[in-house]
Amino acid sequence: MRSRPGAGPKQLSRRSTSPRAAVEQPRPWRVLRPRVAGIGLLALALTGCVQNAAQTEVEEPFRVMDYLEPVGRYAIDADRLWNLTLLVAIAIFVLVQALIVVALLRFRERDDDGRSPKQIHGNPRLEALWTVIPALILAAVAVPTVRTIFEFARPVEGALEINVTGHQWWWEYEYLQYENLTTANIMHIPTGQDVVLRMTSADVIHSFWVPKLAGKQDVVPGRTTMLKLYTDEPGEYYGACGEFCGLSHANMRLRVIAHEPAEFDRWAQAHAEPVDTAAVTGQVADGKALFVTKECVGCHTIRGFQLSGDDPEDVSALRRLGLDQERIDQLLEGGPVEATATVGPDLTYFSDRGWFAGVIFANTDENLRAWLEDPPAMKPMDWEQGRGMPPLGLQPDEIDALVAFLRTLTVQR
Ligand code: CUA
Repeated sequence: MRSRPGAGPKQLSRRSTSPRAAVEQPRPWRVLRPRVAGIGLLALALTGCVQNAAQTEVEEPFRVMDYLEPVGRYAIDADRLWNLTLLVAIAIFVLVQALIVVALLRFRERDDDGRSPKQIHGNPRLEALWTVIPALILAAVAVPTVRTIFEFARPVEGALEINVTGHQWWWEYEYLQYENLTTANIMHIPTGQDVVLRMTSADVIHSFWVPKLAGKQDVVPGRTTMLKLYTDEPGEYYGACGEFCGLSHANMRLRVIAHEPAEFDRWAQAHAEPVDTAAVTGQVADGKALFVTKECVGCHTIRGFQLSGDDPEDVSALRRLGLDQERIDQLLEGGPVEATATVGPDLTYFSDRGWFAGVIFANTDENLRAWLEDPPAMKPMDWEQGRGMPPLGLQPDEIDALVAFLRTLTVQR
C-alpha cells in the first residue's frame, strides 16, 4: 500500500538519500546550474540571428511557400497523402490527450479519502478494442499510401528521360533523347510531360530534392534510383541536395526550369549541338589556349572544343602565352586537343546558365573572376583530396582571357 502525502515514512525515506547528494553537489553549482543552462539556451537562440551565416535553401526574399507549396503532380500527390495522414494523426492525438486529461482529473488522488482506488488488472474486451481500432486505422491509411507509392513507381510512356549523377558538390544531367546533351546543376524540362530521372552518384550518397515538384529521393553510388517530375506550370523551381554529403553539402543546390514544350525543344536542340570554337581571335583565343595549358581540359568537357595546329589563331595564342615551337608541337602532335573530361561539370554553353558552382553564384563576370582566382575561397571544397575545383594560381590577365572565352560558350553567339 502506498503511503499518503504527509505520512512519516515517505519523508524519512526522502531524507535518507539527500545527504549523499549534498556531498556530491556543492551548493554554488546547484545555484549556478540553471543559470548556465539558461545562458547556454540563450546563446543557442541568438545564433539564429547571425547575419553572415549561409543557409541551405534560403534566398531572399525568402517566403517559405515559394519553396514548399507543391506545384508538380507528384508533389501534390505526396502532399495530399501527408495532409490526410496528418489529419488522422491529429484526431488521434487530440482524443488521447483529452482522455488523459479526463483520467487525471477524475481519478486523481484526493486527501479526503485515504483508500486506494479499486485495483483492476486486465480487461479482454478493452484490450481487443484498442488493438483492433489502431489496426483498422493503419489499414485505412495504408490504402492511399500504397496506391501513391505504386503510382510513383509506375513506368510512364513518352517520358523525357534524364540520367542524373550526383557529385561532390554538383549535379550532372544527361538527356537521353538528345544526343550528347549533358548539362550541370540547372535542369530544363518541358511542361505537360512526364520526366523520368534515373539517378546515381559518382561518390557518396546525395539526395535530389525539388520540393515543389517531387519528394526527396536518395542518390546512391552503385545503384539507380528513380524519380518522376511533372508540372503544367512553366517556371523556375528551387532545389538542393537533401542528404549530408560532405564539406559543401549546403552549396549543392539545383534549379529546375520548366518551359512550354516547343520552347523546351528549342532549348534542347540548340544545346545538343556542339559549340564552334574555331577561328576565335585575340583575348578569346588566349582564353581558349589557357583552357588547355592551365589544365581545365583535365576536368571539363566542352563539346566541339578544338585547339588545333591547323588554326593559326590557336598557334599564335599559344605563342603569346610564351610556349616555344617545341612545346607547341608536343602539345598538338596527337592532333587537335579536345575537352572531353568528365570530372567537373560539362561547360558546353556555360554562359547560358544563370548560376554556377552548384547554383550558388549568379553567372556574372565579377563572380566568375573571383571563382577562377580562388575557387575554394568561394565554396568550401576538399580539392586536395580531389573533391572540387583547385586553386589554379591564375594571373589577372589570364583570368580575364578565360572569362572572355567562357562568355563565347552560348547559343546566342
Ligand atoms: Cu550532395 Cu548533400
